[in-house]
Amino acid sequence: MPISSTLPTTPTLATLEQHLTEQPPATRAQLLLTLRLFSQDPGIASLVDLAATDRQWHEVARTPQLQVWVISWPPGTSTGWHDHGGAVGAFRVVRGSLEEHTVRDGRRLRTLAPGDLRVFSGSHVHDVRNTGAVPALSVHAYSPRLDAMTRYVETDGRLEAHEVDGGERW
Ligand SMILES: [Fe+2]
Repeated sequence: MPISSTLPTTPTLATLEQHLTEQPPATRAQLLLTLRLFSQDPGIASLVDLAATDRQWHEVARTPQLQVWVISWPPGTSTGWHDHGGAVGAFRVVRGSLEEHTVRDGRRLRTLAPGDLRVFSGSHVHDVRNTGAVPALSVHAYSPRLDAMTRYVETDGRLEAHEVDGGERW
């Protein structure tokens, strides 16, 4: 539905927010296209400090139904186990390499090189790590936006929910 057909003639920020909230979530194909578009922009690396010793993150798009982050990963850093609060997500490696660890259907490790894409459902739980020797850079897209994430700790090979945060601590 075109935006112009449902918005008031002079929308306020509140009516625009309401309109965007009522839009359907992005499809997987839309998330992947979004990642391709952002990851091709040579300027995204300047949004984070690749020389920093901690992970850096920068939100480059935010609506109720779409959120895009650029994240840098110094060698040896990781997210820890987490979910995405029910949001569908996708990410693409731009520089360096990342490991994605998952436990659904048995423990699994995927190594992702520049250009590699991952897309996952709203129930996905993973731990993403840079075990390489150089900083990594990646772009992440979620729909709807992340308003909560559950963190998990691994005990005796099982994941247990540890805490819930606002989805802004990468
Ligand atoms: Fe994640």
